[in-house]
Amino acid sequence: LFAGPCDFLKGVVAMDGLPPADRLEVCFAGRSNVGKSSLINALTGRKALARASNTPGRTQEINFFTLGEQFYLVDLPGYGFAEAPKPVVEKWQALLRAYLSGRPTLRRVMLLIDARHGIKAVDEEIMTLLNRAAVTFQVVLTKADKPRGGALNATVAEVAERLGKQPAAFPEILLTSSESGAGIEQLRAVIAAMH
Ligand code: GTP
Ligand code: MG
Repeated sequence: LFAGPCDFLKGVVAMDGLPPADRLEVCFAGRSNVGKSSLINALTGRKALARASNTPGRTQEINFFTLGEQFYLVDLPGYGFAEAPKPVVEKWQALLRAYLSGRPTLRRVMLLIDARHGIKAVDEEIMTLLNRAAVTFQVVLTKADKPRGGALNATVAEVAERLGKQPAAFPEILLTSSESGAGIEQLRAVIAAMH
């Protein structure tokens, strides 16, 4: 699947701008700066397909990428702190929540959690929304190249414990680094297995 073409389709700023719900969709959600756009670039092997930067709030639209003819990969704006004007942030937060709970072809939400920080209150809020909407989500730990010593194992254990209380959570936790490439092939395989 990932050997084939992947192209930017469109950036969406309102629910009525979404492309037709005619294929499987996998989206990447998570706090601002967690590494959503970088992960899409790592998965597709394209350095600048999705725009990434160190400024929280970089992605401000719902960006659709076509992967082959059967999939959309979707890069979402982050939630939590963002360096953008408040009314703008509020607008994209509302859109994000509407999309996450109201997209019929959304097959799975990849919920990105920074491996250094673990699950935060805003992540819990999104999990509650997904549970209510019965949308399956899977936790992907990002920046796994960062934690030192036993910190990574401790985070994995803590996340696993908290996921046990989430009915819509997919039990497998993936560890990735867009920087080192760790876990990227495994995540590709998880997505390719959805059909
Ligand atoms: P928003 O669009 O603002 O919500 O951010 P995002 O979640 O798309 O994050 P983005 O991909 O833009 O990455 C944020 C910063 O984290 C950038 O400076 C990236 O280079 C860095 N980053 C992303 N992934 C990794 C990783 O696996 N390891 C390390 N060390 N840094 C990473
Ligand atoms: Mg982004």
